[in-house]
Amino acid sequence: MTTTNKPHDDSATAHGHCMNRRQFLLFSSATAAAASTTTITLFPGTAEAKQLKARVVGYPRKFLAKLSELQDHQPINFNYPDDGKNAYCMLVKMGNVKAGGGIGPQRDVVAFTYMCTHQGGPLQGSYKATDEHRTLGPCPFHLSLYDLRRHGIIVSGQAYQSLPQILLELDGDDIYAVGMMGLLFGRNENLISA
Ligand code: FES
Repeated sequence: MTTTNKPHDDSATAHGHCMNRRQFLLFSSATAAAASTTTITLFPGTAEAKQLKARVVGYPRKFLAKLSELQDHQPINFNYPDDGKNAYCMLVKMGNVKAGGGIGPQRDVVAFTYMCTHQGGPLQGSYKATDEHRTLGPCPFHLSLYDLRRHGIIVSGQAYQSLPQILLELDGDDIYAVGMMGLLFGRNENLISA
């Protein structure tokens, strides 16, 4: 059985002519593996109406780990959505504490970027489980602390944006990264390595 938390719906039928530029990003061959071609109508119902072929680019679906092999509070590191700048991320099973966006029977498996949203401080090694709390931080630069149960919102510190969360899909026992909520630190677009 597949449980899916999709980053967004890329299908042309779902959005019709309402798709905007952000949803139809025309990319170079660097992201072609995640792209598909579809037809859209620009300016529908007007004299300027015309059909265009557009390439819809989505996040890559990347295998991360087997659910059955995860151990509580033992983060697994990975890069996402690519191996470019600031793509460092972590996957963790938070010991039966349910989280927003969590997958698995206990909804306790989540993934987040390691890059602090304030000025990009490294959060590697700062995962902490205390009583019912599950946090990443404090950031070594200015002490921002993020709540992993609640989509990475800020608990304290200098940051003012939540920590980008990796959207996960569970396919049988396999965990995949399939998207991201929030913008990676230091990028203008998550899908373009700066
Ligand atoms: S860079 Fe992390 S709090 Fe400033």
